[in-house]
Order: sequence, then C-alpha cells, then structure tokens
Amino acid sequence: RGHDLRQAPSEQLDAYRASDAYLREAWRPQFHFTPERNWMNDPNGLVFHKGEYHLFYQHNPFGNEWGHMSWGHAVSRDLTRWEHLPIALWEEGEEMIFSGCCVVDDANTSGFGAPDDPPLVAVYTSHRPGNQAQSLAYSLDNGRTWTKHAENPVLDLKEPDFRDPKVFWHEPTGRWVMVVSLAIQKRLQFYGSPNLKEWSLLSEFGPSGVEPKSNWECPDLFELAVEDADGRPTGETRWVLEVGMGEGSVAGGSGGEYFVGSFDGKRFVCDQPENAAQWIDYGRDFYAAVSWSDIPREDGRRIWIGWMNNWQTHMVPTSPWRSAMSVPRSLTLRSNGDRNTLVQRPVVELEELRRDSKSVAPRAISGVVDTGVRGKQLDLVLELDPKDASTTGVRVLAGDGVATVIGYDTRSHELFVDRRASGEVGFHPAFAGRHAAPLDLQGKPLRLRILVDSSSVEVFANDGTPVITDLVFPPDGADRVELFSEGGVSRLVNLTAWRLQSVWRDD
Ligand code: FRU
Repeated sequence: RGHDLRQAPSEQLDAYRASDAYLREAWRPQFHFTPERNWMNDPNGLVFHKGEYHLFYQHNPFGNEWGHMSWGHAVSRDLTRWEHLPIALWEEGEEMIFSGCCVVDDANTSGFGAPDDPPLVAVYTSHRPGNQAQSLAYSLDNGRTWTKHAENPVLDLKEPDFRDPKVFWHEPTGRWVMVVSLAIQKRLQFYGSPNLKEWSLLSEFGPSGVEPKSNWECPDLFELAVEDADGRPTGETRWVLEVGMGEGSVAGGSGGEYFVGSFDGKRFVCDQPENAAQWIDYGRDFYAAVSWSDIPREDGRRIWIGWMNNWQTHMVPTSPWRSAMSVPRSLTLRSNGDRNTLVQRPVVELEELRRDSKSVAPRAISGVVDTGVRGKQLDLVLELDPKDASTTGVRVLAGDGVATVIGYDTRSHELFVDRRASGEVGFHPAFAGRHAAPLDLQGKPLRLRILVDSSSVEVFANDGTPVITDLVFPPDGADRVELFSEGGVSRLVNLTAWRLQSVWRDD
C-alpha cells in the first residue's frame, strides 16, 4: 500500500484495449459479463436508475487474484451489452471495500442529494484488520463518481466478521430494511432505518438450513410472485431469503441456499418446518447472487446475477481476467404442493442475441449422435424423452476425447453436468466432477435450456428449476453439439439451436 492506487495500471489498459486480443482470449465469455482484466468476485450494488442497470463488483484493480478489494463498475441498458466504467469505490489505506448494495434514495431520506435530485446510495462493508462494519457512499451523477460518507461507518458492532448489507425500501412500514450477515456465526440480522444512516436491530434469523457449512455471506431478501405447477400466476406472493455459504454447498465448495416464507417488515418466518432450505443451483459455479434494486414497477421483474466461480477452485486458468458473472436471471416461485421452489430463467433480453437458428429433426438416439450444430456461444432449447435409456442428454463443447456432458439419469432421477473430461481440469483437484440435481420427470420428456459460452454452461431444466451452472475449459477446437444415449434408446422430441452474438463486438 502507500502508492497512488489510481495511476499505475491505466497505460497498460489503454494498450490492451487497442490490441487484437482485447476481450477475445481463449475462454473469454462473449455474452457473460467479465472485467476487462484482473480479478472479480461478487456482484455488488445492483441498481436500476434512469434507464441504466448498474453492475458493481468485487474487484482487484492491481492483479488477477483476490486483494485490494474495490468496486469495479459497468452499466447496461439491456442487461446484455455492458460498458466498462472506471473503478467506483477504491480501497483506501487499511480499508477494503467489501460487498454491498445500492439504492435510489428517491425521497432523499439520507440528505445526500436533494428531493429533485435523489442520490444513489451505496451501502457496503468497510473491511479493516479485525473489524467489518457497514458504510455509505453516494453519487449525484448517475453513479459516475462517488463520495464516501464523512461519518462512516454507520453500523459497527465491533465485530471482525459482519458483512454484505442488502437494503430495500419496505413500503408498508415506511422505512429502509437491511439484511446483513454475522458470517462465521451463521446468523443474519435485520435492521431498520428512516435515513440509511441510523440503524436499529429488528430481528435475527439462523443459524439454520443446510449443515455443515463454513459461514453465511451475501444475503438477499425479496418478495416473489408464485406460479402454479403449469407456470400460471396464482396471484399469491411469498418472500425469499437467500444466502451463500463459503464452503459446504451441494456440489462442494461455495454455493447458495434459500428459504421461502413471510416478512412483515420486522421478522422473516420460514414456511417450512425447522427452516428447511433448498439449493439455489446444483452446479459448482454460481455464488453470492444478489438482485437488482429499483427495477420499475411496470417491469415488475426480480432479476439477479451470480458470481460464476467457486471459492474452492477459484484460481481458474484465465488471463488477464479471472471470473465471469452468470447471465441475469429473472425469478419467480413455483408451487408444487407442499412447498414453493425458486424458478430462474435467463432474462428475455438475451434472446435478442440469437442468430442463425437451426432445428434438429425428431429422432431416436443411440450411442453418440452428431447434431451438426457447432459453436462456443450457444443457446439450446430441447425436449428429450429418455424412454428406456439409463442416461441420455447432450454433449457440448465436444472435441476429440473431450466433452461437457449434460444429461439425465433415469435410475437416480437426476439431471447432471459431468465436466470430468471437459478439457483443462488439472488446475485444482476438486475441479473435475459430476454435479447432479434431483429431477422427477413424472413420465414427461426432459425439457432443457442450455447456455454455452466459451468456458461455462448454465443448464435450466423444466423451465427454470433445477439449475446447474458449471465452468469448463475446453481445448481450442471443441465446439460440437452431440446427443447421446446409454443403456437404451432415447428420443429427441425437438431441438432448436442458436448462435449467440458477442456483446463486445458485432460479428
Ligand atoms: C463472498 C465474500 C463476501 C465479502 C467479499 C470479499 O464471496 O467473501 O462475504 O464481502 O467476498 O471480497
């Protein structure tokens, strides 16, 4: 520390921007958000304001590994094409800027702006040796420049491990509500405030949910519409409390769980006995998900994005950047009798990137069948009847001796992604693996939507649940899409494939 943080790297960045390699390296995602260079983890400060979706993120401005945590920044008008902006909040002295959120303070409750010029307010964790506390910063120019509040921190329990505030305006009680985590204690706390500056404790939740886990971090709380089993609106709503664990998740390493229940402005009460939790994503690479604030009511969507990586295997073999975000996903709940399950669907805006649609005719599948579809940026929509196969599905990013296998196991009733032979897997012993989610087809065909992008697959079964997100690092030429069936003959009902256009350039 001690050097001027803002100076050193900018010349190198200009040179990189002017080079042919810019955002075109091997494994560089073309429709997922990545920082231009250097390390990224959690999404932060997601807020919609004056036609722009802001995306801030945990970022090391100086290197391609975790450190010097600051908030990187990008904006988008359509949730797909992102403009990289300068660092919004810098590490300063002993203080790193950890995860947090942003809100539009419409009524200027904070006094940082004026009633006719409402401020954007960031609520983040000030991380110092031995202390984590919640702080504020504000912007009066659409997030382009930020001022740290002079009286930070605004919420300090003198705890070493108290972080990741998520704040929203709770209309019925007319105040701000914060959910924040005492991470190692695995306790969430809810606070209320009239002005974002003074906070009083409302209630606590946990420890609860899946055991064992290392910690709880990056919580979010929001209300969602409930749809019935066929996807029709029921008119009901429930609240979702979601939270990440740094270790101990379903596929190993970090991952997220959620609780469905009610929130009265003070207390979250889970609908399930003993606060039973469900998994957000059964893959290894969807973490620290948080949702956008202030999406207009006319739009009505709740949209979130997650860090597409895993703390256990985070040193993935990419350079000069490390980590991508998932695609933005719009959320609802689906009722299936005794409980409501989270449904995640890629936002519709992504469909505008579809090019060159190609249909594969219905057919019997036995062994491995080439579809003729090729590509590293793909949107695949298909229905597959497993019939008497033991496993059947799709092999993407397939080449000689390699493939990322996405399939259904009819004996265990599981959807799975198998990346053991997906390409480069040796950089960490826990990387190679097969990640499975329970899925009862109830005699119906398997419905899949698969997004492939250079170094990731996101698999949405059954129109949004379950979901499996995994990173993969295939060799250069591996771009085939194949169908497969083992132990019997399955049937392809339909398959439509699109190439997805790069969001970084027109080609
Ligand atoms: C989660 C996390 C947060 C913390 C941030 C630090 O991935 O550990 O709890 O604020 O990363 O970069």
